[in-house]
Amino acid sequence: MASTYGAAQVLVASNRGPVSYTVGEDGSLDAKRGGGGLVSGLSAIGSDADALWVCSALSDGDREAVRRGVGEDGVRMLDIPADVHADAYNGIANSVLWFVHHMLYQTPLEPVFDAEFRRQWASYETYNRAFAEALAEEAAQGAAVVVQDYHLTLVPGMLRELRPDLRIGHFSHTPWAPPEYFRMLPDDVAGQVLRGMLGADRLGFLTERWAEAFTACAERFAGGLGGTRIGVHGLGADADFLRKRAHEPDVEERMAALRQEIGEGRRTIVRVDRTELSKNIVRGLLAYRRLLETHAEWRERVVHVAFAYPSRQDLAVYRDYTAEVQRVADEINAAYGTPDWTPVVLHVKDDFARSLAAYRLADVALVNPIRDGMNLVAKEVPVVSDAGCALVLSREAGAHEELGEDAITVNPYDVTGTAAALHEALSMRPEERAERSKRLAAAATALPPAQWFVDQLDALRG
Ligand code: G6P
Repeated sequence: MASTYGAAQVLVASNRGPVSYTVGEDGSLDAKRGGGGLVSGLSAIGSDADALWVCSALSDGDREAVRRGVGEDGVRMLDIPADVHADAYNGIANSVLWFVHHMLYQTPLEPVFDAEFRRQWASYETYNRAFAEALAEEAAQGAAVVVQDYHLTLVPGMLRELRPDLRIGHFSHTPWAPPEYFRMLPDDVAGQVLRGMLGADRLGFLTERWAEAFTACAERFAGGLGGTRIGVHGLGADADFLRKRAHEPDVEERMAALRQEIGEGRRTIVRVDRTELSKNIVRGLLAYRRLLETHAEWRERVVHVAFAYPSRQDLAVYRDYTAEVQRVADEINAAYGTPDWTPVVLHVKDDFARSLAAYRLADVALVNPIRDGMNLVAKEVPVVSDAGCALVLSREAGAHEELGEDAITVNPYDVTGTAAALHEALSMRPEERAERSKRLAAAATALPPAQWFVDQLDALRG
């Protein structure tokens, strides 16, 4: 049996991996390395540790790379059939589990658990099994495996059966739904998700609140935690990386272009999100509109820079939301704009350098999600902003547990309340703003990604 073990001592598993491929017109493959906390966290482990990242092929380019045997050291991409992946990712993970944990269902968008759902659920099982089998194959005896997020809730239980010798962890980057909401799932599915997760030795969450919600669900629907331990690791911003990256020439160039769009001497309210329902972008725009309505003194003196990058566009509800964001921004510009003032500068094409440029220029950061596991933008803007920024922050973001004291807290549903918070943020004395921003940056960087990952490994092995 031992001869069939793999060589990796530390394994990460996630749907989205650190690299993606596109096929060029001449048939060549172009690799693009993604950013994000998990990527920098894992790179810190280095190759000495025999680390392996198992992820899914997500695009035609990725699938072509797997077929041609092209890949990066330390990354194994699984060529899961496109239809199975679509059912598991779009159907179950993003339309059901994401909606449950973010409590996003609203009439008439409530779930219908019918034959179509059952078919997709079977794909979700197949997809999870593919990960469990690959991990079982690659892991050395007694290796540590950290499975990421709601796409892969069944993996810990499946892997435990295949390889009882492994140390298995699972980390949730989302909130966890309270029992009264979680029970919306069919009983057998809810049970499978919980038992799948409880196959892990240790489960990690971003905040106490999500850890408590999971524990409550386990107690009510799965007879408790059994031997599974629970830990909280509040992923922080990567200060060294961000500060360095934010001063590179491409960022400076974009700052110049943005300054042109904003206009001389104006305040800037910045938001950067995926165009994601839980991010609450539309209510943010409505709050800004309300600010211009009720505080005429800000007209022509402030610009709302809103970056809403494409996300999950295979789903109609995301496409509709994207269109609504655009429509509301256009309406505000039509209602209030003047020949030399555009109240909302909306960009929808993903551009990390431009996001950093906006962070540096921010006087106010607006982060108002309905519900959010952490929200790293709330942590990144204070670290990067040149003059220090005021943070308007939803009480429903995980980041609020760490940043609440120096932020201006809002109820994300309360548009007039958010407008008042924007006014307060814009009116803050520069010295106070700078001091608060400094404290926000310190709290935001308390647990950098590399340490976040090492802490989980230590706890898993301990
Ligand atoms: C959230 C999830 C991640 C996911 C990311 C982007 O942060 O917790 O697992 O990768 O959103 O979403 P996407 O569907 O594009 O991977």
